[in-house]
Amino acid sequence: MKKQTLVSGLRASSEPHIGNYLGAIRQFLKYQELHDCNFFIADLHTLTTPFEPKELRKNALEVAADYIALGLDPKKSTLYLQSQVAEHAELAWIFNCITPLGELYRMTQFKDKTGSANKESVNAGLLNYPVLMAADILLYKAEIVPVGEDQVQHLELARVIAKKFNNQFGKTFPEPKALLESETARIMSLNDPEKKMSKTGGQGILINDSPAEIQRKLRKAVTATDATGKSKGVDNLFRLLREFGNKEQIQFFENAYQENTIKFSELKDILSEDIAHYFAPFREKRKELLNSPEYIAEALADGAEKARERARATMQEVKKKVGLL
Ligand code: ADP
Ligand code: TRP
Repeated sequence: MKKQTLVSGLRASSEPHIGNYLGAIRQFLKYQELHDCNFFIADLHTLTTPFEPKELRKNALEVAADYIALGLDPKKSTLYLQSQVAEHAELAWIFNCITPLGELYRMTQFKDKTGSANKESVNAGLLNYPVLMAADILLYKAEIVPVGEDQVQHLELARVIAKKFNNQFGKTFPEPKALLESETARIMSLNDPEKKMSKTGGQGILINDSPAEIQRKLRKAVTATDATGKSKGVDNLFRLLREFGNKEQIQFFENAYQENTIKFSELKDILSEDIAHYFAPFREKRKELLNSPEYIAEALADGAEKARERARATMQEVKKKVGLL
């Protein structure tokens, strides 16, 4: 297989949940062995929703520790903080100037995040969020981007921006593709299975949750069925069991479900043990890493240095094409 350039990021809002892990991070681990990978912590994107400066700094370092503890190897991939490579913001500005507002207004995430709020008072960063994301990707001329389903529309916009730039200024960027893991691209919230599990909603199992916490959250998971007998909550629990459980457990509960003898309390308790067990080595490694923050800071500084080199080369080319000195 030809080695391709890959980029992906995680916001620094808080600790990753199992949706982030199954939808994105787990893929990163696989691809770091195959491709030229760039993974970053999207701290500039984190500024688009309410934040505390102290918390932001702490969370960014913790997300880096999470990445490394889960198996991302800073020697195999380039791992860095978005804000430490100034070219992300620089390219985003140029992209802002070729992106029609209409494209941004129709983004589902923008509509979801602004909801019924008065659009006059929404910060412009929230609207321009996908433009910065296009810059994150195209700065490295990435061809593939592993993400969860919620980011696919943003990826489409990155392709629109790449095309537009190429048409206007000459072929510069490839058109990046989203890489989706079909089964786990959208893990649902436990207490509102109509919505995706998310960091900001607080309804997710964090990968660093203690076994007791995982159990507490799972016990509250909604399993109600709709008028047609379907249940998104149940589907979601089974999806998680297929990821974290063993063959016998999966078989047992699938049969019990078919035969209508299933006890969801039992399924939830088994599943919480499985998830706690799965992430046990991660919790240990994370603790160790957070005891040596200088190692994390160093890995991030090295990563930023490497990223900057490529980012600079792209910006030189872009500025020349656009007519900037
Ligand atoms: P969140 O959306 O929870 O705030 P991020 O924005 O940092 O988290 O998302 C990081 C990555 O995790 C993205 O690739 C995103 O598509 C993926 N992701 C987020 N939530 C889910 C989910 N519920 N299921 C699958 N993937 C998800
Ligand atoms: N917007 C993504 C999310 O919320 C995070 C992100 C920022 C990203 N820049 C990116 C993902 C570039 C992939 C590529 O999940």
